[in-house]
Amino acid sequence: KVSQALAPQPHDVNVEEDDVKLRIAVFFGTQTGTSERFAREVEAELNQRYGTAVCVRTADLENVTPDLADESFCAKEEPLAIFLQSTYGDGEPTDTSTEFVHQLRDLAGSGKMSKHLQKLTFSVFGLGNSSYEHFNAAAKLLDKSLEQLGATRLVDIYLGDDDGSLEDDFQSWKECLWAEIEGRYCISAANSCGNDLTSYVVISASMDDAEAVHQNLEASLTQNPAEGRTSSTAPYSAQVCRAFELHSNASDRSCVHVDFNICGTGICYQHGDHLGVFAENSLPVVQRGASCLNYQLDYVFTLTIPSGAPASLSTPFPTPCTLKAALTKYADLLSPPRKTALAALASVSSNPAQKARLYHLASAAGKQEYNAYIVDPGRSLLEVLEAFPSAVPPLGLFFGFVSARLAPRFYSISCSPLDNPGIVSASVAVVREERPTGRLHEGVASSFLARYLPEKGERNLPAVINSHRVPLFVHPSNFKLPRNASTPVVMIGPGTGFAPFRGFLQERAALRRCGKLLGPAYLFFGCRSEHHDFIYREEMEDALANETISELHVAFSREFSNRKVYVQDKLMEFSSKLNSVMKDDQGCAGSIYICGNAKGMARDVNRALHSILIREGGYAGYEAEGIIAHLSEAGRYQKDVW
Ligand code: 2AM
Repeated sequence: KVSQALAPQPHDVNVEEDDVKLRIAVFFGTQTGTSERFAREVEAELNQRYGTAVCVRTADLENVTPDLADESFCAKEEPLAIFLQSTYGDGEPTDTSTEFVHQLRDLAGSGKMSKHLQKLTFSVFGLGNSSYEHFNAAAKLLDKSLEQLGATRLVDIYLGDDDGSLEDDFQSWKECLWAEIEGRYCISAANSCGNDLTSYVVISASMDDAEAVHQNLEASLTQNPAEGRTSSTAPYSAQVCRAFELHSNASDRSCVHVDFNICGTGICYQHGDHLGVFAENSLPVVQRGASCLNYQLDYVFTLTIPSGAPASLSTPFPTPCTLKAALTKYADLLSPPRKTALAALASVSSNPAQKARLYHLASAAGKQEYNAYIVDPGRSLLEVLEAFPSAVPPLGLFFGFVSARLAPRFYSISCSPLDNPGIVSASVAVVREERPTGRLHEGVASSFLARYLPEKGERNLPAVINSHRVPLFVHPSNFKLPRNASTPVVMIGPGTGFAPFRGFLQERAALRRCGKLLGPAYLFFGCRSEHHDFIYREEMEDALANETISELHVAFSREFSNRKVYVQDKLMEFSSKLNSVMKDDQGCAGSIYICGNAKGMARDVNRALHSILIREGGYAGYEAEGIIAHLSEAGRYQKDVW
């Protein structure tokens, strides 16, 4: 099995300039790779549908200037730009698109019209999640700024919702987009079935070459990062220097504390920042994946770009490498497959019934079945591969279209560099839950980090700790203590929501040791039971004893059989204190921080704060809303929620 490429698309080879009716730029602002995949899909579909009538290029917003004044792009009349923009965290653009989106916003705010942008027609598809308060905020900002700068909207902004079905939203938007392109530019679709996929060319290679690539990669990942700066594209591979279980033996769940050694690397972070971690699939998962693909784990291969492919296409990871390494480090086997993945599997299925079913699941008509079979039960790609054994994708197709790239996971850093600059920590709840399909879902990254725990009853760390490193990077955030240490703070963080506050406590303790005067600090923590999951209890109690915090309130949700107590119940209990922190009065005005689950906890806490303003402050509902919005704008109400 040497070459496994499907045919490259003929129109990509020497496009005849005269045939081109429309130049289209597809831009993406991505955090974990999803919007990049969507963008590449739009590019591929545009090429398939319109052939030589269009000339498409795809670019990361990281590499684009805000007025889009790129000569090749603006040379023709009516250029069309399509944006796939993800929103990250508390409504921010992704790391690599922040500069572009913010510069565009500032340009729009300056009231000037842009010569280039006035010629531009655009459409924005946002990738977001409606369980977050600032749903698709970055895409909305981008869309608004483009309009203000004089660009013309081709299709109204679509707000893709990962809490619903991003796939369906994407498909609906694309259908509108095709219709508008065809209407406005008088281009007709030559081929609308969209199943003619390109894929990487696969060449078998030698183990020695794979070993050399591996060594190179390891060497570059363990080099001290330039200026101490790490990113998702330039991570640093750190050793785990400590790992321990945070739950007691009585708990049936697990939560891991992990310290990574960054001593002497120059990597800088601040309390409240996030840590991106590249995890690996477990060996059993990798073995099942290889068996579905019909290859041995030690098969060594190189991925290359098929001739004639768009210039922007790059290989997804360094090769040559073994199939084992590729599946372990790069293939997202445990997430639900996208519709394009199902279409790609359908295209190679040798069983007519399975082929038809896969095509149906991937089609617009199969929307309900896709949701019922894939989305609702959280069926993984691996499960689908096993359920459709006639669909054995060649490796080039598998890594090009079927499997998404394993994305980094983000954790709130649970320490402060003022405590120990050589260490960066994460506090990770281990995800183990039964899915409706009966599959025990083990979270990729949390289970990977849990492998660093010492065996039960053992004091020594497992051998893996010395031999294995974890690629990671620091993602800065605005979740920071007030500049003035004497400002009162309220920290609300149940479960692993305490993570950033461990950093806050360490930061305050260090400031106290330097003789800084600390304002009052109220910590609200919640867990199920005092004896199972009261994580970092000693540290919290020590902080109280040495006055790093002034009060500690803990809500136990499963300690009493008759009722659940949550952090918001504790907030209501201390409502007059909370009310005074939310006031603008000199002296008691403070900042409120929430960390934890966005959907349930953060919303309920927000409601509790709202009720407190009504009850204690005597405000009307709309006034309370205004006060909370004002606190948020002033940076006095900050959230680190997921
Ligand atoms: P539960 O699991 O008993 O429902 C940390 O996860 C703590 O947060 C647990 O005690 C959990 O309680 C609690 N929790 C769950 N949903 C919550 C919500 N909507 N608001 C506040 N706390 C919540």
